[in-house]
Amino acid sequence: MKVDIDELREKILVLKKEQNAVLLAHNYQIPEIQDIADYLGDSLELSKISRDLKENVIVFCGVKFMAETAKILSPKKKVLLPVVDAGCPLADMIRVEDLIMLKEKYPDAWVVSYVNSSAEIKALSDVCCTSSNAVNVVRNVPVKKIIFVPDKNLGWWVQKNVPEKEIILWQGYCLVHEQFSIQDLRVVREFYPTAEVLTHPECLREVLEESDFVLSTAGMLKRVKDSESKKFIIGTEEGLIYRLKKENPEKHFYSLGSAKTCLNMKKTKLENLYNALEKGQHVVELNPEIIEKSKLALERMVSYV
Ligand code: 13P
Ligand code: SF4
Repeated sequence: MKVDIDELREKILVLKKEQNAVLLAHNYQIPEIQDIADYLGDSLELSKISRDLKENVIVFCGVKFMAETAKILSPKKKVLLPVVDAGCPLADMIRVEDLIMLKEKYPDAWVVSYVNSSAEIKALSDVCCTSSNAVNVVRNVPVKKIIFVPDKNLGWWVQKNVPEKEIILWQGYCLVHEQFSIQDLRVVREFYPTAEVLTHPECLREVLEESDFVLSTAGMLKRVKDSESKKFIIGTEEGLIYRLKKENPEKHFYSLGSAKTCLNMKKTKLENLYNALEKGQHVVELNPEIIEKSKLALERMVSYV
């Protein structure tokens, strides 16, 4: 049966109102979800927004670690993740026992965890960071030695920008961003020599080294708005290009190589959003002790930047 998109949108908006719910969506979500969201943003923006909402129910269109972060920052609210298995393979690349082992090996180090990690990893961390504030967070940590988990490329980028710190890197990576190659970058630059190259810090280090700007998704949106340039080569998940084009119709965007898709970010469709609101699914539940400990690491992040 073909469902009419406008009808589905209407139904979602009615349910949203009845339930005093708010829709948060990450910049990589499909266009239909981006268009219906109350708030659209990168990990940091959405974390900050989720702390200050007045609605009772937060529906998070993104991946699990993002919905968990909203729950940690607003523990009294009901947080729904419409697709229960929308995960982040990068976040799953470090286990609690791995981090405990690292902490035992380097007892003087602080643990800085990228928000793309589980709530349990955050609970064992001293401070969290996102792609937009990682350099500043690490700069502000009051010790020299840092265990940085789980993304090796972001960790490398931070080390390059904060040489005064000694960073122990975990070897996790994003399957999507690691597909952007240096060969792709060089070829696309030849095609569009005047274009600015904007890449996400989860890309390979050689790609980061040859980029004009290394930015979070919100950072890319800002750079495009502020720049005089008309052409941009985008080294991040393709969902952002929809928003870039929508907000900057006079500018041109090219993916770095063929467009790269995060399958987990694309799992949430309007039907899932409708079901989430109608059936109250899937509720994010976390152990209160985990919430309390991980909240400290997230709040410290916000206080540092
Ligand atoms: P941003 O915080 O830059 O939006 O990145 C989130 C993410 O998952 C990147 O892959
Ligand atoms: Fe995780 Fe990579 Fe998808 Fe971002 S793009 S949610 S890091 S798998």
